[in-house]
Amino acid sequence: MLRRLCAEQPESFAFTDANLAWAKVQLTKYPEGRQASGVIALLWRAQEQEGWLSRPALEYVADMLGMDYIRVLEVATFYFMFQLQPVGTVAHFQICGTLSCMITGAEDLMEICKTRINAKPHELSGDGRFSWEEVECLGACTNAPMAQIGKDYYEDLTPESFIALLDEFSDGKEPVPGPQNGRYSCEPSSGLTALTAHESGRTQYNASAQRAVDIGDGIKRIDGTEVPLTSPWQGKAQGKKPAAKPAKKAAAKSASGKKPRTMKAPRKAGADDLKMIKGVGPKMEKMLHDLGFFHFDQVAKWTTDEVRWVDENLQGFKGRASRDSWIDQAKILAEGGETEFSKKVGKGGVY
Ligand code: FES
Repeated sequence: MLRRLCAEQPESFAFTDANLAWAKVQLTKYPEGRQASGVIALLWRAQEQEGWLSRPALEYVADMLGMDYIRVLEVATFYFMFQLQPVGTVAHFQICGTLSCMITGAEDLMEICKTRINAKPHELSGDGRFSWEEVECLGACTNAPMAQIGKDYYEDLTPESFIALLDEFSDGKEPVPGPQNGRYSCEPSSGLTALTAHESGRTQYNASAQRAVDIGDGIKRIDGTEVPLTSPWQGKAQGKKPAAKPAKKAAAKSASGKKPRTMKAPRKAGADDLKMIKGVGPKMEKMLHDLGFFHFDQVAKWTTDEVRWVDENLQGFKGRASRDSWIDQAKILAEGGETEFSKKVGKGGVY
């Protein structure tokens, strides 16, 4: 299946404050310089926040991780768990259509989706609240047929119980995930024949379903407030940022292009906020400073050859200066004007 970005894209993306804090904590799991390892976690969070991954969301995550945009795009288009076009605002049903589920009734579930949601997968229902797709085995074959909604599994489905689920979602309820036929987890449907002593001490629902109920981050959008921002791997230093290593100087060599005039330090009045330029995040701004660029008027004066030099020396962001037309933006900002992007930054709407 061809997976492409949606033709219609929003103008921007930014994590909510809580999700941004969550994302920063996640990045403390990785050694300095290896933050790209967090790409799936951050993409998933972005998807949980918006329901799907837009191009601005991919670029935002790429900027946070210091990754080339194409690398993040590769991840997002490779994994089917990432939605590249808008999904239902309430729920996106992923119906398993692999062997166990297929021989136990998955086709009936998909027929219901076609009737109740949309005849075509990945298309929204009339009210925009639901969408569906067929997916490959989700590893819950013992509880076939099943559907995944967000990160929850609804298992042991029948046409009747699936319609009941749809009704509950439509009514704004959040049905408890897990088996929908009274089974506790994946024990024989006739009941346990071994380890029966454990039955008395168990929680109301099986571990996955109980956790989903306890955390309460099922179908609703994840704004960060529902999950405690803990970082046990940081031990006593929880919440404290690890000491930053001295930043490496960006490379100053280039195979082509002409190096622009640089400055050793900003003028007395201080550096301009280069993050007002679309495509420049905190990391990129630091890199530009290391290269000797502090002011909009410096960027505004770059020639074509000089942009090529800059593009090639933006480690991990190659091509960003020309891709986002920095010169055009910088010219406006250097004259005291505003761009659409800088207006959003000024209002705090952009990371
Ligand atoms: S076949 Fe459906 S979960 Fe494995």
